[in-house]
Parts: sequence; C-alpha cells; structure tokens
Amino acid sequence: MIEGFEKDAWEQHWRDALRAGALDAPNPYLTDEIGTLRPARALDAGCGTGADAVWLAQHGWTVTGVDIAPSALAAAADRATRAGASVTWIEADLTSWAPEAPFDLVFTGYAHASIPQLDLYRRLGQWVAPGGTLLVVGHSGHPGAAGHGDQPPEGSRVTLPDMTALFEPSRWRIRTAREDTAAVPGHPVRHHDVIVRAERLPA
Ligand SMILES: C[S@@+](CC[C@H](N)C(=O)[O-])C[C@H]1O[C@@H](n2cnc3c(N)ncnc32)[C@H](O)[C@@H]1O
Repeated sequence: MIEGFEKDAWEQHWRDALRAGALDAPNPYLTDEIGTLRPARALDAGCGTGADAVWLAQHGWTVTGVDIAPSALAAAADRATRAGASVTWIEADLTSWAPEAPFDLVFTGYAHASIPQLDLYRRLGQWVAPGGTLLVVGHSGHPGAAGHGDQPPEGSRVTLPDMTALFEPSRWRIRTAREDTAAVPGHPVRHHDVIVRAERLPA
C-alpha cells in the first residue's frame, strides 16, 4: 500500500485543485499517439477531471472513464456535458474493479494507485482486447529526470526499461517507447515522462 495514494487522499487532492480552478487540457501524448487509430471502445483509467476521456469521445471513441475520486468525476461529467460529449463515468478503485469486457484502447495518464505502479500497468494490460492498444503515460524514474520541476512522489515513478519489460514479445508489439518532457497543459511543472504504446497481438 503506497501512502498518499489512497481514495481519501485523491479526493482531497481534487477538492483542493478544483477549488483553485484546475481543469486540465488533453494530454499531448494521447493526442499524438492515438490520432491514427480507428475509434472503438476506450477506457481512460484514472481519468481525473476527464479532459482525455472527453477528447477521445469527441474523436469518435466510445469512452468509459474510471476514477476513485467522486469530485474529479463530478467535474468530468460537467466537462462532458458542456462539450456535448457522451462518456460513461464509473467511480471505482482500479486495484479491485475489472471491466466486464476488454477495451480496444486502454489509456492511463499519471494514474497513481496505492499499489506499485508497474502492478497497476500490468493490470491495465489485462483489459486490452486482442488487436487493441495500451497507452501509458507515466512519470519517469530516470535519474536525469531531476531538474524538470518538483519530483513526483517516489512510488509513482517508473523507468523506461521496467515499463517495456512488462510487454512479452509473444503477446505485445511495442509501437512507442520513449521519454519526453513536453509541457502538459494544466500541469504546473514540466515532469519527465515515460510514454509507452503497445498493441496486444491477436490471440
Ligand atoms: C495525477 S491524477 C491524473 C488524472 C488524469 N489522468 C490527468 O492526467 O489529468 C491521478 C488520477 O488517478 C486517480 N486514481 C488514483 N488511484 C486510483 C484508483 N485506485 N482507482 C481509480 N482511480 C485512481 C486519482 O483520483 C486521479 O484522478
């Protein structure tokens, strides 16, 4: 159990952030990586206030957004209504919840649950349909990451080699595996990111 990433902590985070007026824009790595895929069923795991889920819905995807924090989901639903986008919002804990059917795209951007980060990504990989895509954007644990703003908490960081090792070549084809420091609109600091996009091979 990683301290600080429990439900109460995230709910408090979002109450404070929303009071301060935070409402993020879509993640640039998502918009870069997903543009060429044919829209189908997508999951945004740890969707926060829904910028990415709404962007996907606006680009033809049938989207489910899951988050543990009710305040974030309320803001996400409000965002979708204002955008005229249809998204299914589910309040759930990704460490125990599982979807009834796999998704063609599972996306997660900076979601940090109370289990080790790689265990969360391994779990999300199980929810990708054969032929589908997993896109993970996470905080880099690369030593050179220091100096790109305040460091994300220890338990939230991953290295690119650890990430790519999650994908057995017999089951996955890695399409993108890189690190970047692109500024994410709405995020106050430039974090050093790890971006991995992998296709699950047909069964
Ligand atoms: C740093 S925020 C990122 C939110 C959004 N993806 C973005 O990039 O703006 C991490 C999100 O993961 C959610 N989260 C953390 N633990 C979770 C869990 N166990 N189940 C579902 N969501 C969780 C938090 O509530 C929060 O919205």
